[in-house]
Amino acid sequence: MTTLAPAGTEAHTPAQLIQGWDHLELWVGNARAAAGFLASAFGFTVTAYAGPETGVRDRASYVLEQGEIRLVVTAALSPDSPIAAHVRAHGDGVRDVALAVSQAGEVYEAALGRGAMGLRPPWTERDESGTIRRSTIATYGDTQHTFVERDRYTGSFAPGFTTEGLPPAPVGPEVGLQRIDHVVANVEQGSLDGWVDFYRRVLGFDQLVHIGDDQISTEYSALMSTVVWDGSKVVLPLNEPAEGLHRSQIEEYLDAYGSPGVQHVALRTEDIVATVRALRARGVRFLSVPPAYYDDVRRRLADLSLPWDELRALGVLVDRDEDGYLLQIFTETVTDRPTLFLEIIQREGARGFGAGNFKALFEAIEREQARRGNL
Ligand code: FE2
Repeated sequence: MTTLAPAGTEAHTPAQLIQGWDHLELWVGNARAAAGFLASAFGFTVTAYAGPETGVRDRASYVLEQGEIRLVVTAALSPDSPIAAHVRAHGDGVRDVALAVSQAGEVYEAALGRGAMGLRPPWTERDESGTIRRSTIATYGDTQHTFVERDRYTGSFAPGFTTEGLPPAPVGPEVGLQRIDHVVANVEQGSLDGWVDFYRRVLGFDQLVHIGDDQISTEYSALMSTVVWDGSKVVLPLNEPAEGLHRSQIEEYLDAYGSPGVQHVALRTEDIVATVRALRARGVRFLSVPPAYYDDVRRRLADLSLPWDELRALGVLVDRDEDGYLLQIFTETVTDRPTLFLEIIQREGARGFGAGNFKALFEAIEREQARRGNL
């Protein structure tokens, strides 16, 4: 399927040209409402807008920022738009995991030379703030990676966007999200190895971790996960469903989204207690954690000195690996279909993804279910 270029014929792998996350673009039914929700509930600030008022006829886009995180929400303005078709097929979801690169042309050629499917060859946009160069390749499902070279652009987001007349920031406590930690994909059963191979051989990523279904598995919710990364910032866990007694949550996602796609986006904070308190005050709904989880985790991690009562009251989960510990919490899905959700994560040394929590949390939920006679 993929032919590697002979050694020495290319200067860089794509990963070597990637500098980090640029933005995540969500294609949604109503961009104005989605932007309002991300601003009021999650504390993002709208920093740019494109639409008919700025000469863009076919779509409306809002750029939202918090810390180093940049999201773009885009909706169609006509029924024959590919954005409308995407929303009809998938509901609201992440269309583009856009990566910042030093050379949008070179990274595209390197990716295609190693077997990537090109969706749009390098193009340049300019205005009075400079030039942006981009190129786009396909990844899992209808999701894509756009490579963004913005070193010679000093404007807010891109040509066609304005910073005037933006919606005001809603009042609410400071949330304090700082950067994208990882972006997780769900892929079809049997395709995980192929996608790991795509990121490794085509894009030059490295494998960080593989978590077998023996580790993230209860009788009822099994999955396998492999994490790849570009070697510095871009961390992409990939999940596939595994055989279980009942339908895996990954299968439920694949059915609801209609294809592989982004399952969750993890956002980093340095103070998860303050962040989750603010998010709850702003109305964000999180997965509820059964009290049994805390009985178990306080025993397992008894030597960690943590504000246990506060973590329990807020529903924050704790996990540990050989490098340290992490605190995390998952929102309910933020879409109408049971597809996309967000994770809030604080890392204190730990480099893992909370695998210990999956099992502990699922088992705790199942114990509660069993107590109610519903298992
Ligand atoms: Fe995660």
